[in-house]
Amino acid sequence: MERIVVLTGAGISAESGLQTFRDSDGLWNKYRFEDLASPQAWARDPELVLDFYNMRRKKLFEVEPNAAHYAIVKLEEKYDVQIITQNVDDLHERAGSSRVLHLHGELKKARSTVDETLVYELDSWELKMGDKCEKGSQLRPHIVWFGEMVPMIEPAAQISSTADIFIVVGTSMVVYPAAGLIGYAGNEIPKYYIDPKASHVGGISNLTVITKKAGEGVPELVKKLLSD
Ligand code: APR
Repeated sequence: MERIVVLTGAGISAESGLQTFRDSDGLWNKYRFEDLASPQAWARDPELVLDFYNMRRKKLFEVEPNAAHYAIVKLEEKYDVQIITQNVDDLHERAGSSRVLHLHGELKKARSTVDETLVYELDSWELKMGDKCEKGSQLRPHIVWFGEMVPMIEPAAQISSTADIFIVVGTSMVVYPAAGLIGYAGNEIPKYYIDPKASHVGGISNLTVITKKAGEGVPELVKKLLSD
């Protein structure tokens, strides 16, 4: 069975109603990530950081996967599909994808601040000061903040190197190491990039750029790949 690796970013969840980061209405055009998504921000004002992720988590409980998420699930009828996502939402899982690797963490999880192996599922949107792990330490969002290591990058690079087809959906490709994963895919394999503003990619062999929103571009590509 051929393997398809799909690298996704915030753009695949935009049509579900979740904000991206660098579009004109994006989160980093409204807030400074240095104040909300870094270890320094957490040390300076943990309640502000908790509020930021509570706001995003609350929204996540209100939205649904979109046609792009569901189309990727359909690919599993014919291919071994491995998703590598920069997103912290659970829309791929809720759409039914079976193999999802989160590079930047998961919004619906929290983790201990003294033992990072202690990770907990959150069943409601709110994580508060005073919510503690079993060792008595404050819980933090299970998110990879700017300046922190990306623990899943090695397995993600290994998976990318095994792709027979590599698809990129809805990412500005400006945040490393995630943006470098396409470089692990073989030069000779077909690669697809779906983004309405697909000006970010250059110098990539065998690349087909689909300048469309994910909700339209992904189902079209999936239909083609299922009929090949
Ligand atoms: N369909 C497809 N792509 C879209 C859509 C859509 N409906 N709407 C916007 N996009 C595209 C934008 O054109 C842009 O290229 O999605 C991309 C979103 O880029 P970013 O906002 O930079 O998001 P992303 O690439 O996922 O950011 C990477 O940065 O802040 C960190 O950790 C955060 O994981 C995030 C990382």
